[in-house]
Amino acid sequence: MSDPARRHTELVETLRRANHAYYVLNEPELTDARYDEVLRELQALESEHPELITPDSPTQRVGAEPSDAFPTVEHREPMLSLANVLEEGEFNDWLRRVREGLDGDLPELVCEPKIDGLALELVYEDGLLVQASTRGDGRRGEGVLSNVRTIRAIPLRLRVPEDENPPSLAVITGEVFISVADFIALNKERAAEGEKEFKNPRNAAAGSLRQLDPAVTARRPLRFLTYNLARAADYGLESHSACFERLRSWGLPVNHPVRRTAEPAAVRDYYEELLTRRTELEHETDGVVVKVDELALRERLGAVSRSPRWAVAWKYPPRRAVTRLEDIEVSVGRTGVLTPVAVLEPVTVGGVTVSSASLHNADEVERLGVLIGDRVLIQRAGDVIPEVVRPLVEERDGDERPFTMPDNCPACGRPAVRLPDEVAWRCVNADCPAQVRSRIFHFASRAGLDIEGLGPRVIDKLLEAGLIEDIADLFELAPEQIEPLEGFAETSAENLVDAVDAARGVELPNLIYALGIPNVGSTTARLLARRFGSLDALAAAGEDELTTVEGVGPTMAAAVIDFFAAEGNQLLIERLKAAGIEPTLEVEENASTGPLAGLTIVFTGKLSRPRGEYEEAARAAGADTASSVSGNTDLVVAGPGAGSKLDKA
Ligand code: IVH
Repeated sequence: MSDPARRHTELVETLRRANHAYYVLNEPELTDARYDEVLRELQALESEHPELITPDSPTQRVGAEPSDAFPTVEHREPMLSLANVLEEGEFNDWLRRVREGLDGDLPELVCEPKIDGLALELVYEDGLLVQASTRGDGRRGEGVLSNVRTIRAIPLRLRVPEDENPPSLAVITGEVFISVADFIALNKERAAEGEKEFKNPRNAAAGSLRQLDPAVTARRPLRFLTYNLARAADYGLESHSACFERLRSWGLPVNHPVRRTAEPAAVRDYYEELLTRRTELEHETDGVVVKVDELALRERLGAVSRSPRWAVAWKYPPRRAVTRLEDIEVSVGRTGVLTPVAVLEPVTVGGVTVSSASLHNADEVERLGVLIGDRVLIQRAGDVIPEVVRPLVEERDGDERPFTMPDNCPACGRPAVRLPDEVAWRCVNADCPAQVRSRIFHFASRAGLDIEGLGPRVIDKLLEAGLIEDIADLFELAPEQIEPLEGFAETSAENLVDAVDAARGVELPNLIYALGIPNVGSTTARLLARRFGSLDALAAAGEDELTTVEGVGPTMAAAVIDFFAAEGNQLLIERLKAAGIEPTLEVEENASTGPLAGLTIVFTGKLSRPRGEYEEAARAAGADTASSVSGNTDLVVAGPGAGSKLDKA
């Protein structure tokens, strides 16, 4: 492609279409790898032709400087809250009041899920996203535009047909959330890293959105669904349903599933259906919202204090139960983190039997004030995750006893340690059988070598039979060894060996992730793979090189260096190589040529263009860029407002 401007338009359009297909149409068009590839081509093109960068280019989703605080933003429209009802009788009361307000008419109603995330107001001017704010007190919220720009479900520019003008102003509200599946994965990663786990998807979403560094938000799996367009009559729209159509056509993901009906009984059916199918939705819901569809009728109904009369939240009953805390066991994770787990007398909560719940860490046990033997209130914080809410202190009989974190690892008996700056206690014995087991599991997992059929139960069998002791042993397994194991036959044994065989073709990012280096999740693994291109190059990298990778700070760099310095790991890598596993990846270009080759540059302060743009340009010219000043820094480019980095330099 000779014409850079044309290529730029093509790439931008490809990425926009991919986001739209994925988040709005639910029909993914590109694989993650292909998306990244196109994004990289766009980044490279823009660094050669900075004049082509537009504020709504997909490269501009991250790039803003971390800030010290969020500005206060006045909402364009007050962000109202919803009146709650808990039972059908109360819902009918609400409906009666609506009918009275409308002189007896029974209006069309729209039912939709009440998403358990956090509300967000988006402001588009001439089609361009210019403001985003949290609910705050309903009149003023926190301006979180830089973070919101990283959420790929949110278009940076509204889609309008080419022969139409975008609306001069559109104020759109919806909910930011993290899906249940992503939440579980995120917490797993955090637990392995000794970081505090999030209590539920809502907290995870709130914590991720309110990050001072947009680059951190960008790595969190935030999603968005819209449910309101303000002043819709200005666009000639007459109903909520029509608003949803319009919002969808503008490229926004719209809340679903919705049902439009005038029948109170159909509302009840919707409520019950959604309640039973609750876990099928990707996000958590805490009820359904019922809204009057016709906008003119909404006008007639108006609002009482801060809630509209034309909508109501019909909440689900809380899923709580009381049971006995029989014991607190300590489980050992992949990186040796010791996690206290509540052993509960089995009890059904919301149709699911709960018999254990993570207590996260010793601090959390203390904060809850629970004793072993307590009667405890538990709830399913969300659709899947059970949690202990509090002990019923008044029901104690004196036989309860406090929990203490063991001095030794329950799996291998070696002393547990608490590293500085960590909430977690750890077993630091790399040969601890509990760790070995979860390392193998992690290695085989979807984001790792993706070995089909190699789940925890099979791994246990292989370990028990003495067929494997570590990851590399997997590649020496023969079907004849597996076949005698309980639950296996000739075909299943061959299938497992075939699946292991297929994993020899693993790609470098997956392999780096699969090794289970503390703190290195799949995003970082991908960035490391791209920067270093092979395990050998990664193993040889020093702190200064490692910290040039986005998201890698001194702690993570130290973890990588320690990992490759450990003799056991070196041996493991040699054996993996011997098994034919030695993937490489083309390193990002210009790494060692170009006019700025060999220099490490830090950009800070307010610059006349987004920081990411300068960094890209510097990298294209052969420099390394870093986010913090170290002994290796050659140049600091500082704009107004540069703080500690400039001082340090
Ligand atoms: S409509 C005027 N629809 O619930 C009504 N809100 O209690 C504006 N929420 O702050 C809200 N799902 O964060 C609406 N489908 C939905 C919703 C929803 C979740 C949240 C929203 C709002 C709170 C109100």
